[in-house]
This record gives sequence, structure tokens and C-alpha cells, in this order.
Amino acid sequence: MRPEWKEWAAEAKAEYPQANSALLPLLHRVQQQEGWLSPESLADVAELLGLSDQYVESVASFYSLFFKKPVGKKVVHVCMGLSCMLAGADELMHNLETKLGISQGQTTEDGQYTLLEAECLAACDLAPVAQINLRFRGHVTPDKADELLTEEKEVSS
Ligand code: FES
Repeated sequence: MRPEWKEWAAEAKAEYPQANSALLPLLHRVQQQEGWLSPESLADVAELLGLSDQYVESVASFYSLFFKKPVGKKVVHVCMGLSCMLAGADELMHNLETKLGISQGQTTEDGQYTLLEAECLAACDLAPVAQINLRFRGHVTPDKADELLTEEKEVSS
């Protein structure tokens, strides 16, 4: 456990007196620092907040924005909810897999991209929807897979 996590836990508890409400902000800070949430980190967070390991693990698993294994510099989420599927999300995912040379759930060998599925991202009117490092992109039709990655390269470099 990093020493500052105790301080972060105290800050989260001061803001959200219920331990389970303090959990999300603390997990978020830990992930920002570590890049992902290891089993050890989750156990440390549980201890700091007086929650069970199982509870913390289940919360971290519920949210697709918490990473339970190391991810690349750019995390691409493709929404696989119903509206997005009807608008071609499956084909978009396939095109991204082909362009990156990885399957959904994997990270490119150079550590640049991780490709993940997401549940409905609550922007169904913009289907198909994708996110790169939490930035929304709407109307990402399958033919725009290349554009999505190129555009992000320009934004990030
Ligand atoms: S189904 Fe994709 S945003 Fe709702």
C-alpha cells in the first residue's frame, strides 16, 4: 500500500461518511496512480475503508471504467449495448480488432492500445458509440475505425 492512500481514504471518508460511498472516489484515485486495480490494491482499499474484499471486488468488476488488469496508454471502449449493436458496433469492433491486431480484451504489444467492450454508455442517440480514454465519440460507424484511431493519435501527441 502506498503511504498516501491512507490520506486519500481519510479524505474520501470525510467527504462521504458511508464507506461504500467513499469507495468509488478512492478506487478512482488509486487507478489513476497505478494505471489499473490489482488484487492487492483492491484488498488495500477494502482494508482502508473497512469493507469486505468481496464487496470491493464486485464494485470494481461492475464498472467497465475500472481496470482489473494492466491496460495500454489508450483504452478504447466500444459500446455493445442494443442500440449500438443495431447500428453496427459488432462490425466496428471487428474493424478495430483487425487494425490493432488484437482481440477485444487485449492490449497491443507496444502497450499503446487496449480494446474493450462497454455496456450501454447512455448516449444511444449517437450510436454507435466509442470512447478513447473516456472521451466520447458518437456515430462511429464501422468504416470510421481508422479515423477514430488516427484522430486520437493526433489529439494525444
Ligand atoms: S447502446 Fe450504446 S450508448 Fe446506449
